[in-house]
Amino acid sequence: MKKEKIMDNEENNDFVNETIDDSLDSEDLETDTMVSKDADPIKDKIKPKDILDLPGIGPTSAEKLKAAGFDTYEAIAVASPMELVAIAGLGEGTAIKCIKAARDSLEMGFESADILLEKRKMIDKITTGSASLDELLAGGIESQSITEVYGMFASGKSQWCFQLCVTTQLPKDKGGLEGSVLYIDTENSFRPERVSQMAIAKGLDPDEVMKKIFVARAYNSDHQMLLAEKAVDLIKEKNIKLLIVDSLTSQFRSEFTGRGQLSDRQQKLNKHMRLLQKVAELYNVAVFVTNQVMSRPDVLFGDPTDAIGGNVVKHASKTRLYLRKSSGSKRIAKLVDSPALPDGEVAYNVTEKGIED
Ligand SMILES: Nc1ncnc2c1ncn2[C@@H]1O[C@H](COP(=O)(O)OP(=O)(O)O)[C@@H](O)[C@H]1O
Ligand SMILES: [Mg+2]
Repeated sequence: MKKEKIMDNEENNDFVNETIDDSLDSEDLETDTMVSKDADPIKDKIKPKDILDLPGIGPTSAEKLKAAGFDTYEAIAVASPMELVAIAGLGEGTAIKCIKAARDSLEMGFESADILLEKRKMIDKITTGSASLDELLAGGIESQSITEVYGMFASGKSQWCFQLCVTTQLPKDKGGLEGSVLYIDTENSFRPERVSQMAIAKGLDPDEVMKKIFVARAYNSDHQMLLAEKAVDLIKEKNIKLLIVDSLTSQFRSEFTGRGQLSDRQQKLNKHMRLLQKVAELYNVAVFVTNQVMSRPDVLFGDPTDAIGGNVVKHASKTRLYLRKSSGSKRIAKLVDSPALPDGEVAYNVTEKGIED
């Protein structure tokens, strides 16, 4: 019966606790009971709004605008009235009203720097498990923004995810946040046994650690995007401090293959990144994503690899690390274009215990 519940939940796109054995009580497995039905003003900000709700937009004009790519409040907010007039046949006055409503609802305003500084003071950091990596990152993986690791197959991206599942749960004086983790798994690569191994190495009870990791398998890019929206429901209820997407781009990459589909893919990916960014900022959680690399035939010398997703992913990820294998258990992480930290690279190890110096 319990097993059936888990399967049901997976099919209903919910997050489930992954367990090594099935000895958890059903409350931990039942995600329906965790989802808050209460209105949440923060959640309202994250939920994509339908442009149909804007003043002056009926179903026909909404259809025309969507077809022309003006399918979000963001897109309408930065449009010119004449564009809307031309595309949807709105009157100029209506177009102006509609743009104003989109802008108001997005709160596209200025914030004074002292408020920004206050917000930044609330940034939490999660230890990577390696002192030299933490130093490279000025303390660890940050809340309020997206951190991206990219690298080739087996460069250790998923190892980072597993390790952070554990370190997020550590007490604050050990570099953790005593928080839980949401894990969106797009490649079916989550391995609870491996997380368990790392938990034991940190002196934590692996069963307790598993109960605080909520995993959902994403079957395609739409599903992945939906899961990110659903994540919001769990964040406050479960004291989530870290949201992982491993891998960010694999579903998008396999679904949008042709050259002609590239702009569709980028638009969708952009929407996904914006949602992740909002989740990070509004809920003060760390968002950690992994990304693959593609070989670049045009680069003959230097590093022939570049991350998938182009500028869309590059700009949304505040901290980016390029991972590569060295000899044995040794790995190299290179910090790439961080807005406030110097570029640099450090060596660390991936061992049975996890990530360490
Ligand atoms: N139990 C372990 N002990 C030591 N190293 C491990 C262990 N499990 C995995 N690894 C290392 O991690 C590598 C796989 O990394 P992974 O995170 O799956 O790569 P990616 O997600 O980048 O494709 C393996 O090749 C191995 O070097
Ligand atoms: Mg992986």
